[in-house]
Order: sequence, then C-alpha cells, then structure tokens
Amino acid sequence: MTVQEAIHARHSVRQYLGKDIPDEIVKSLQARVEECNRESGLHIQLLINEPRAFQGKIAHYGSFSGVTNYIAMIGHKGASLDEKCGYYGEQIVLLAQQLGLNTCWVGLNYSKINDALQVNKGEKVVLLIALGYGQTHGTAHRSKSVEKVTVLHGNEPEWFNRGIKSALLAPTAVNQQQFIFEYFDNKVIARSKLGFFSKVDLGIVKYHFEVGAGKENFEWA
Ligand SMILES: Cc1cc2nc3c(=O)[nH]c(=O)nc-3n(C[C@H](O)[C@H](O)[C@H](O)COP(=O)(O)O)c2cc1C
Repeated sequence: MTVQEAIHARHSVRQYLGKDIPDEIVKSLQARVEECNRESGLHIQLLINEPRAFQGKIAHYGSFSGVTNYIAMIGHKGASLDEKCGYYGEQIVLLAQQLGLNTCWVGLNYSKINDALQVNKGEKVVLLIALGYGQTHGTAHRSKSVEKVTVLHGNEPEWFNRGIKSALLAPTAVNQQQFIFEYFDNKVIARSKLGFFSKVDLGIVKYHFEVGAGKENFEWA
C-alpha cells in the first residue's frame, strides 16, 4: 500500500481486537519513531502491551476498547509543539496503516500513565495515538467542500487540488476541519482557525497536503 492509498484507507478506529503486533512490524514503527524524533527534536514514544492508558472510565466514555498499544506524542513545550506533533505523528499513523494496523488520534479519552512514559524537564505529553488491529477498519468522515477550505489568488494548478483532496481526508479533532489553504504563485499558506487541538490538526493536514500535491511542486509560505 502506498502512502496515498493509506490516506484513503485510514479512518479512526476505537475498538481493537487486543491481538499482538508482530515483532517486525513493531521494529518498522520504532525505526520511524526514531527517524521522526531525529528530524523534529520531538520525544515520541511507542508503547507496546501497555493497556492501562485506555482502561479507565475516560477511555470507556470515548468508546475505546481493547487498546493495548499506543504512540505518545511528547516534546518540549513551545509555540510549534502542537503542529510538529501533528506533522510527524501523522507520518507514523500512515505507516501503521500501510503495515495493516488501525489508529486513532486521542486528545482527551486516555489516562496518562506516568511510569510508562519518559517525560523530561520542559517536555509535555500533547496527545496519544491508539494503535492495533481494529475490530473494523472504520468509516469515512463527513467532509467540508474544497471551496470552504481554500482561498485562491489566480488559477490553481492540478497539484493544489490534489493536495486539498488529500487534506480533506485527514483526521481532525472532532472532525472540525478548521483549516484554510491559500494559493498564490506556486506558494501555499496553510492556516488553522480557532478550535480544539487545531494546531495539531494543522500539522496533520500539512503532511497530507504534501503527499497529495507532491512536495516538489510548491513551497510553503
Ligand atoms: C488532534 C486530534 C484529537 C483527537 N482526539 C480524539 C479524542 O479525544 N477522542 C476520540 O474519540 N477521537 C479523537 N480524535 C479522532 C477524531 O474524532 C477523528 O479523526 C475525526 O472524527 C475524523 O474521523 P476519521 O479520523 O475517521 O477520518 C482526534 C483526532 C485528532 C486529529
């Protein structure tokens, strides 16, 4: 499965089978986590066989069940932390999809298990990503129209439309899709509007846009 195919196949999944993830898949995910950490300076952690974060009432209210693995998005506090978590976390989400797993970004419905996480001074746990073999593969979300999330200055090229379609397939908190992509002169500006976790969403949708549009076709402005 290509990354583009993974973008189409991915949907949030909250109920898992509790089935073990084979070692070679864990190794591939761990390698990607380390690569993302090197590139971003984040302190992302992969937790395998750690069921406690999704065992309490909070996870139950969010309809989570059978979650025994997750990715913890952790990094130094600062203005760019949320967006970075979105941008790099979604790379791991899409790799997980390519490897046959299901996922769900989780900002609220989990308990922070302090003895399972390494959180250094000045760092913060931004959110988790549940990971495993889902009971189903989830369903497609309702989506805003292309017009609602774009501002154009001149005729947009085909790659811009491909990028937007890819961004509209991305997960966003409460499916809010509070983002705008603006096009001018082969440059793109992406902005988030006010909303719950909307800076994390911005990082996620920027990664989807890059995959759909082709990074070589444009510059972020
Ligand atoms: C930053 C972020 C935080 C989220 N937090 C939660 C959460 O706390 N609980 C939950 O059930 N889903 C959560 N979600 C999942 C969204 O509800 C889901 O992505 C959205 O409804 C779109 O559906 P899809 O992922 O199936 O495309 C979150 C998603 C994102 C991107």
